[in-house]
Amino acid sequence: MKVDVDPERCQGHARCWEICPEVFGLDEEGHGHVLVDVVPPGLEAAATEAAENCPERAILVS
Ligand code: F3S
Repeated sequence: MKVDVDPERCQGHARCWEICPEVFGLDEEGHGHVLVDVVPPGLEAAATEAAENCPERAILVS
C-alpha cells in the first residue's frame, strides 16, 4: 500500500500526522507529506484512517 499527499489540496489540517505520525510528517508550513515509500503492513489501518479523516481529501491511497 502506498499513500500520497496532493499538495494542491492539502490545507495543513494535520490530522494525518495526528493519526499516523509514522507515515505522515508535516513540513515547515504545516503541510502533510509522506515519510515512507511503502506503508508497513502494521500501519495500513492507521494510514487509511488518516486518509479518511483528511477534511480536504488530499491523501491518495493506492
Ligand atoms: Fe493536509 Fe489533510 Fe494532512 S489537509 S496536513 S493532508 S490532514
